[in-house]
Amino acid sequence: MAPLKVGIAGVGTVGAALIAQIAAQREALAARCGRPIEVVAVCARSKSKDRGVDLKKMKWFSDPVALAREPGIDVFVELMGGADGPAKAAVEAALSSGKSVVTANKALLAKHGVKLAAAAEKHAVALNFEAAVGAAIPIVKTLREGLAGNQIERIYGILNGTCNYILTRMEQEGLSFAECLKQAQQLGYAEADPAFDIEGHDTAQKLAILASLAFGTKADQRAIYVEGISSIAAADLTAADELGYRVKLLGVAMRTPQGIEQRVHPTMVRKDSSIAQVMGVTNAVTIDAKGINPITLVGPGAGGAATASAVLSDIADIARGVRCAPFGRPTAKLKDVRKAPMQRHEGGYYIRFQARDKPGTAATIATRLAEQEISLESIVQRHAKGAPSEETKNGSVPVILITYATSEDAVRKALAAVSRDKVISGRPQVIRIEKN
Ligand code: HSE
Repeated sequence: MAPLKVGIAGVGTVGAALIAQIAAQREALAARCGRPIEVVAVCARSKSKDRGVDLKKMKWFSDPVALAREPGIDVFVELMGGADGPAKAAVEAALSSGKSVVTANKALLAKHGVKLAAAAEKHAVALNFEAAVGAAIPIVKTLREGLAGNQIERIYGILNGTCNYILTRMEQEGLSFAECLKQAQQLGYAEADPAFDIEGHDTAQKLAILASLAFGTKADQRAIYVEGISSIAAADLTAADELGYRVKLLGVAMRTPQGIEQRVHPTMVRKDSSIAQVMGVTNAVTIDAKGINPITLVGPGAGGAATASAVLSDIADIARGVRCAPFGRPTAKLKDVRKAPMQRHEGGYYIRFQARDKPGTAATIATRLAEQEISLESIVQRHAKGAPSEETKNGSVPVILITYATSEDAVRKALAAVSRDKVISGRPQVIRIEKN
């Protein structure tokens, strides 16, 4: 059978790993797919850069749109990144010229996924994006195909390798946030602008895609509440450990009576849960589907080889002639997403603040919590070990509260009242607890 001819736009870490994997697995791929897979053209900025792979036999393009329209390719692989600009223009050009597209671009899909899926449908070609979420973890196929017959109630996971790497090294080795970030950048995990990772936007883009696949909604990053990990202090990681928790940046999408709640924020997870065992750059996704026990997929969530592995599985599907609706159903059947208000989120909370070290403080805090019907699972007031800390000298002590399930609105109101009472100083740290 004729080979499947592939054109790749973007030959960075992922593109180079993909070319190497296709070459290394040539025979195995041909046997599995029933036809060979050949990279015939590439598009990249610098022709002279050494990428560790042989590009000599490939046709060279400097314009990704021209590559996308090249009649000599069957599949256009987009590995440039960016929600708009050349990536979007090239993907649109490929689809409208009847070529299947494989992309790892979560930003593009979270923003324009529905329109692109409609274009793929119109031209009867594939739009595959396994690599956009969780790199090597086959989560897109699991939701779209493996669980096509299940009603999903909740999907949550560690979707950003950089953040998990930082939190793990801070917790296990006591390293500073900045030091861990620098290492994540050196290892090629972080986005070009690491604020995207740290502030939770990368996780939100991935969550928008997963929520669409899980709940049949239109991918829409704007429907997601987002908080990053930059406020997490070593004190939170230590306190979490002592209280039987770990802090992870989670993306969570769940069915609620108010709609699909979608949120990204640092989260306390029980230390004995499977998600808490996930360390370093590893990602994990848990799916709660009606009538069956939760399913957790764990694997490498960032890096060249891990991402290329997912891109290659998408190319293999096209070589085999497999084509699914990109978001698991025809685009006309995708529903508008209703943003569930965060104030109505319900769950347990970890709250840490500096409290005035005077008689009556505990009573005032207890009263404010009781007014909002917040019940406490534990309360810890601690003095710094050894010499008094600055805060203790200034007449305040660190207090940590763990609440039973309550609402976000109640917590915010209670903390605002406590602040007005002037029994705490500074901004309280609030971390939601996820049941798992
Ligand atoms: N910056 C991303 C991460 C890369 O750290 O997970 C994979 O999407």
